[in-house]
Amino acid sequence: MDNNKLLTRRNTLKLCLPALVGMGTAIGANFIGELEPTLALDNPKRSSSLSGNKSLKERAAAKGIIFGSAVRYNDLTSSPGYAKLIARECGILVPEWELKWVCGDKALRPNARDFDFKPADWIADFGRKNKILLRGHTLVWHDSLPKWFEEQANAKNAELLLRTHIKTVMGHYAGKVHSWDVVNEALGWWDRRPDGLRNTPWLKFLGKDYIDLSFRLAAEADPNALLTYNEFGLDYNTPEDEAKRQAVLKLLRYLKSKGTPIHALGIQAHLSAEISTFSQQKFRKFLGEVASLGLKIMITELDVADNKLPLDLRKRDRTVARVYEDYLSAALDEKAVIMVTTWGLSDRYTWLSEFAPRKDRAAVRPLPFDRNLQPKLAWNAIARAFDRAPKR
Ligand code: XIL
Repeated sequence: MDNNKLLTRRNTLKLCLPALVGMGTAIGANFIGELEPTLALDNPKRSSSLSGNKSLKERAAAKGIIFGSAVRYNDLTSSPGYAKLIARECGILVPEWELKWVCGDKALRPNARDFDFKPADWIADFGRKNKILLRGHTLVWHDSLPKWFEEQANAKNAELLLRTHIKTVMGHYAGKVHSWDVVNEALGWWDRRPDGLRNTPWLKFLGKDYIDLSFRLAAEADPNALLTYNEFGLDYNTPEDEAKRQAVLKLLRYLKSKGTPIHALGIQAHLSAEISTFSQQKFRKFLGEVASLGLKIMITELDVADNKLPLDLRKRDRTVARVYEDYLSAALDEKAVIMVTTWGLSDRYTWLSEFAPRKDRAAVRPLPFDRNLQPKLAWNAIARAFDRAPKR
């Protein structure tokens, strides 16, 4: 997603938010068992049946894949039911806000000297107590930089700021993190640079090798974590996404040729249910190319925006589910894909209520569980994709 665009939209959207909250629609508690007849009305050929009642994390683990979700401290601490659901379904957690420099009401970096690890520590502890792995997101990004950074950072002090940040944050969790998004969204063909890089403060202050440097610092700070480059807009069979895929491959090849300690590509996968240009073949080919560089692949922020679909709830849920299943079956066919995290687990807590709301103001339904924490067809779709995936 283009966060610049999104963040500008954000203020305009705030006005609609109170109306969106609490507009969720309840789905029966035994939904999973009742899917077939409902679906048959729409597309008799499309099954959503499942065997057993295992959680997503168990189904994924049976194939050597890790499944989990982004979580926010505020949601986990305010809803025990949600925390229970997260513990049941997730094998890995990634703080949605708490490990960014600043995000929402959380500031890991309140100023140039200090670090506030409390909310992220709480999530890490919750994970440890429930035997759930931890991901780190994200160290180097143009977005979510504090105001003080904009005011104080310059070409002279940027390297020290970067070093201190990576060393301190990764050092704090060293040995406890499965994987870190070291650099996020560094590409932007729209900035028209020959190297495809996006104009970010880091690029401006440190030049193009800020990416290589970030990975080297990360490898020093925690030699056990899988170091990931994370990017969006890689999914569809459109000229824009094709340009992004080519730019990613170019960047990854460049980093590999320099001996940069990079271990994985993170594919955000913020999908839109109304877009019909997904090509399993094209996407699968791209994954193969990434894998041939000796890199692992993680689907890091999966969700399916339903804001442009018709209001009809069953139709919406069916379409969203279909998108999940088609996408994941292509992705999981590549054995280098070792992890899938959705960007939230329940429609009650999704960034899309704010960033991609519906014009009719109905609550959005982009995630596997509804606002009442009941599984939807999207849950079946993800489960089916895991059940069918080849073993790693
Ligand atoms: C988003 C969060 O979900 C929002 O709550 C926050 O306000 C802005 O950031 N790509 C990323 C994520 O890498 O960090 C973004 O998360 C979504 C797009």
